[in-house]
Amino acid sequence: MHENLIKKAKQILTENYQPSGFTLPCKNLYPFQWLWDSGFIAIGFAHFDMPKAKQEISTLLDAQWENGFIPHIIFHTDTDTYFPGADFHRSDLHPLSSKKYKSTGMTQPPVTGFVLEEMYNISTDKEDLLTYIESEIDKVFDNHRYFYEQRDINNEGLVYIYHNWESGTDNSPIWDDIWATVDSPRYDFKRRDTSHVDASQRPSKREYDHYLHIIEIAKEHNYSDEKIAELSPFLVQDPLFNAMLIKSNESLIKLYKRIGNNEDKVRQLEQWQQLSMTSFNSKLYDEELGCYIHYDLRNNKPLRYISSSSFAPLFANIPDKERAAEMVNTMMTKFGNPDQYLCASFDPTSKRYNPKQYWRGPVWINLNWMLYRGLAQYGYKNIAERVKQDTIALIEINGFYEYFDARKEAHGEVRAGYGGNDFSWSAALLIDMLSD
Ligand code: DGY
Repeated sequence: MHENLIKKAKQILTENYQPSGFTLPCKNLYPFQWLWDSGFIAIGFAHFDMPKAKQEISTLLDAQWENGFIPHIIFHTDTDTYFPGADFHRSDLHPLSSKKYKSTGMTQPPVTGFVLEEMYNISTDKEDLLTYIESEIDKVFDNHRYFYEQRDINNEGLVYIYHNWESGTDNSPIWDDIWATVDSPRYDFKRRDTSHVDASQRPSKREYDHYLHIIEIAKEHNYSDEKIAELSPFLVQDPLFNAMLIKSNESLIKLYKRIGNNEDKVRQLEQWQQLSMTSFNSKLYDEELGCYIHYDLRNNKPLRYISSSSFAPLFANIPDKERAAEMVNTMMTKFGNPDQYLCASFDPTSKRYNPKQYWRGPVWINLNWMLYRGLAQYGYKNIAERVKQDTIALIEINGFYEYFDARKEAHGEVRAGYGGNDFSWSAALLIDMLSD
């Protein structure tokens, strides 16, 4: 079944792979290595080309800073087809940044821990994979230490992000409330994304002003974590980001136990994990909405909106059974209408919903992959299966796009896959979903 789709998916990954040891998320649009893309891509490669999966993660971890931080973009080449590039981000300002690679000074969801576990589970040569993991795992541990020591200012086990690009869900309507509090300068710059993709499917000029403004503040202080925590107008505890950290903690614990002789690290991870789980459940759950939400740490208030990130905690085993049932109910009531594909990235019943614009509504394959796993794990087999079938249908009808219109009526006559085409993680995660 789906042999042609799998063949095409493998071809996309192979063609987007670069000789220097990483994979482009999407030709032209994203010409470098992106952190969470790399993780999902490695899961896809693990099914048919394990050496490339290993190389992907090794290259990513090779760009780690001395303080454990892993950047969100690693600029492997000098191309000027992407804005803002290396010369804007200036990672060299931070005293502990990589001397080998130019990068951004922000990060992205910490996928690396659970990706290593996925690779292990997929591998047919477990011994070889465990040797590989042993050679890399301490870097991931150091990355988690960085988060808990530098980004958990209240010592509550919830780490902050200081830029919307760190969330991965770049232009989510959730951030609109924050932008309303920020008076960013109006910059003069030449965007490159809108020469590859229709502007109506991308963030607005004004939003880009905010994105650049936050980076300017961070740069003024050489990307000091302390200063960023003090001054960034964007400081958020994001349920997607923190759920992935928790999921990765769990994977690191399992992998260290398998490797053996790492009791201190296991104990440390278990401590972080316990605190994170408790605070996540007490601070980020909204009883009235029946799902998890974001918390605006700068303005000290919950951001009460429902997005696909609200359900990501299912993937990390965070809610108890009862809460999971409430979440599934919320999801099916708001997002699960039969005339919609699961799962829109933002509440389709909200005024802020836009079915074509990036993270303001379209379906994304990586979130679907997480929801599929999470739902299955809690025993919601039928809904999990629907997420899987919807994912296959969206790709079959449109191709391996970056994101998709959730409205079924939008598909058919015209294409309703948006953003970049031959998008690597759409290919990688479809391969994974079709393998079980
Ligand atoms: C972009 O350029 O849109 C990326 O998502 C930033 O990480």
